[in-house]
Amino acid sequence: MTIDLSTTLSWTTASGDAATMLGELQPNILKAHVRDHLSALFLTFGDAAEARAFLVSVTGKMKSAKAHLDEVSAFKAEGGAGTPYVGVGLTAAGYRALGADGNMPQDEAFLRGMAAPDTRRRLNDPPRSTFDPGYRGEIHAVVLVGDATDKTMTARRNEILDLLPDSAVVLAEETGLGRVNARGEGIEHFGYVDGRSQPLFLTEDVDAEKNNTDGINVWNPAAPLGQVLVPDTAAPDPGVHFGSYFVFRKLEQNVRRFKQAEADLADTLGLTGEDRERAGAMIIGRFEDGTPLTTQREDGAESPVSNNFTYDGDRAALKCPFQAHIRKTNPRGAGGAEDPADERRHLMARRGVTYGERPDDPNADVPPAARPSGGVGLLFMAFNSVLGNQFEFTQAVWANNPGFPIVDGVTPGLDPVIGQGERGSSGYTVDWGGSAQRTAGPVPQSVTLRGGEYFFMPSLAFLRSL
Ligand code: HEM
Repeated sequence: MTIDLSTTLSWTTASGDAATMLGELQPNILKAHVRDHLSALFLTFGDAAEARAFLVSVTGKMKSAKAHLDEVSAFKAEGGAGTPYVGVGLTAAGYRALGADGNMPQDEAFLRGMAAPDTRRRLNDPPRSTFDPGYRGEIHAVVLVGDATDKTMTARRNEILDLLPDSAVVLAEETGLGRVNARGEGIEHFGYVDGRSQPLFLTEDVDAEKNNTDGINVWNPAAPLGQVLVPDTAAPDPGVHFGSYFVFRKLEQNVRRFKQAEADLADTLGLTGEDRERAGAMIIGRFEDGTPLTTQREDGAESPVSNNFTYDGDRAALKCPFQAHIRKTNPRGAGGAEDPADERRHLMARRGVTYGERPDDPNADVPPAARPSGGVGLLFMAFNSVLGNQFEFTQAVWANNPGFPIVDGVTPGLDPVIGQGERGSSGYTVDWGGSAQRTAGPVPQSVTLRGGEYFFMPSLAFLRSL
């Protein structure tokens, strides 16, 4: 029996090779792990043998994807706390530093690395000299420690740091701190519900979503295992030992600039009263509470936030602008460049968390001047099976490309949130189903890359065998 990568996996009925795979896979790949409190430790190794011994001992503190899924169902049944998440990723340089590069994973972008000039050109990234100091040198590994409380997360983080040999150096540490709105849904620093739309790899998760939407999936969130899992070629048995490519990007958010841009857009478009909220929704594609703009003119979403929509009823973008962040990064079949089945292959499993302290309440209605202009942002994290076709494609060919989506006679412009490059002149109109015509220019860039790297998150079997 082999693992069928062409479809979703029912984990509750998995047996044979599929069960072995889940028992050796890291958590947080197939399904998000709680990480409201997160420490991301970026390491460089000085001694191969010591680094190997360190990773073997860290593996003793890790759980499998199977153990995580069991914890989630036990929590649903009886409540109670789960155990912390510990994840380990290696860069291509990291495999070499360990002397473990013989059969290492061969994704082209992974081998190139995020710091390579070629990567920078493709993604239009800022120069490495502008990154935070810890990201200017060669990174070998990342250790992620996540949990629901600061106390349990920090305790596990300290245990791991105690294991670190003197020959290894912590280049950087990021501390993620999740934030929620009044309904308890996770938000990012601009104030919008985030992490809602995901490719779902587990049959049980796809079924749960169907039940949320009366069984009618206008947008089908299901994605095949092959969109996130790759055989771990360096592991003892790549037939059952799998891993995933992991993107990390520290994205600083200038909240003050973004909130000012929302207000300016509302002014230029002549939006008044409650309708001013629509300016931000036109930038993101959803209102702050997550309501999709293409289905509703005001906020006031159902709970849970809807993800059951496409742009089929809004081909001309009279409701949700073409350049809205979620329309650029998932056109849901309306990108105009590819067959919808191929277009879906670009989606990745996003696992980000916000970072940074701020004096203001992100949910409060205060003037832009009271918002932070730096020091806060998103630790963007995502799992991919082919970096060049998922993360890199999304950033370079969709977000940074003013010509996407492809529409006759229209240049939609850059993704207003994450687009890197010349902003151009394309703008917004206030149409919502064909009302008044007023246009406004693009919004200024308020997200800046401060550092990042590509990793492979190997199987537990590989780490144990080091
Ligand atoms: C600070 C940076 C970012 C912010 C503030 C941000 C914000 C958001 C928000 C509010 C949503 C809507 C929630 C949802 O549908 O899940 C969203 C969705 C999404 N974002 Fe971002 N994002 C950021 C960076 C990125 C990056 C770097 C990428 C990829 C290159 C990305 C790709 C996506 C995708 C694929 C979706 C889901 C779209 C869909 O399926 O409808 N985001 N983002």
